[in-house]
Amino acid sequence: MQIGIFGAGAIGCFLGTRLSAAGESVRLLARPDVVAVADQLEAVDHAGATARAKGLVASDDPEVLRGVEVCLVTVKSQDTPAAIEALRPRLGPDALVVSFQNGLANAKRLDAGLEGPAVQGIVTYNVYRDGPARTRQATMGKLVIGAEARAPKAFGRVVDALRRAGERVDVTEHIEGEVAGKLLINLNNGVCAATGLPITAALRDRDARTVFAACIAEGVRAFRAEGVRPRSPYAIPIPAIARLLALPNAIVLRVAKGLVAAHPTAKSSTLQDLERGRKTEIADLNGAIVELARAHGLPCPANTAVVDTIREHEAAIDRGEAPRFVDPVTLRARVRG
Ligand SMILES: NC(=O)c1ccc[n+]([C@@H]2O[C@H](COP(=O)([O-])OP(=O)(O)OC[C@H]3O[C@@H](n4cnc5c(N)ncnc54)[C@H](OP(=O)(O)O)[C@@H]3O)[C@@H](O)[C@H]2O)c1
Repeated sequence: MQIGIFGAGAIGCFLGTRLSAAGESVRLLARPDVVAVADQLEAVDHAGATARAKGLVASDDPEVLRGVEVCLVTVKSQDTPAAIEALRPRLGPDALVVSFQNGLANAKRLDAGLEGPAVQGIVTYNVYRDGPARTRQATMGKLVIGAEARAPKAFGRVVDALRRAGERVDVTEHIEGEVAGKLLINLNNGVCAATGLPITAALRDRDARTVFAACIAEGVRAFRAEGVRPRSPYAIPIPAIARLLALPNAIVLRVAKGLVAAHPTAKSSTLQDLERGRKTEIADLNGAIVELARAHGLPCPANTAVVDTIREHEAAIDRGEAPRFVDPVTLRARVRG
């Protein structure tokens, strides 16, 4: 089976390298810097084991994906419309697309824009590019994919291929709840990008954490109004996570150590985008909660403050200036205001 990957950055290179090392025929659409090192790509998993790319074909021309049986889409949400334009003339009507992107709408957009079926996938772990040819899995986790009946053969084969490549893959009938839960936990992405703080620093700061907790609580209310039940990726239900995060440091740093732990230098992907002078995925993260709350007439001050602050950072970048990150106290005051 030929597996295509649209947009090989952190996630796309990691999965593509592991699939090719497991003997799959993999074709990557990537930027020239990745294409140049495609035959040297390495993916280091959470246990430290390294997979090396084998026979992988890479190009920055979307023609490389013509006729693949399965295509994994791994671009940021803002690039989904361009992915649809590029894939529409190149995929057959039976081709299966799996979106491994964050956000609520990417798989739906791909499904509506392409002839064949597109299904939602979730990557629950973190991956970063650790050098030009190496990706590294930073946290433990698994892949979750929504059950898909329209392309049973391709679906079964890609799930098997991912498992052979070393991934734990759960197939679920409740992907909407899983995606909602992942989004709620991911709302810290915006808080980090608004403040410029690494993930651990933001989680250990009472003011930043209070804004994160308020973002989750607003999201829980918005999903409830929509009739969606977010599934927690942890053993603790999401509303309880929001209540825990809002408690003082003296309690949280002692009793909820696991919740506020990450590698000290790990940064949210939205912050990394700002630091690279790129537009962010914020419309599909905290922005998705703002939209949902608005549709149900619910107040959403915390997510609105986060989105507005990141829009200011993006506007600064557009003017050729560096983003002026706000400190957590100021961000919290913006929520109250
Ligand atoms: N990284 C993680 O740990 C993680 C975990 C879970 C979920 N996710 C989600 O997975 C998705 C991908 O994240 P990521 O971290 O892998 O992003 P990323 O590193 O930015 O990878 C996307 C890559 O696609 C490239 N690209 C975009 N359009 C292209 C085109 N037309 N042709 C060739 N290359 C193209 C981008 O290049 P340019 O940057 O030059 O545009 C970038 O290299 C996001 O939705 C993210 O939220 C990420």
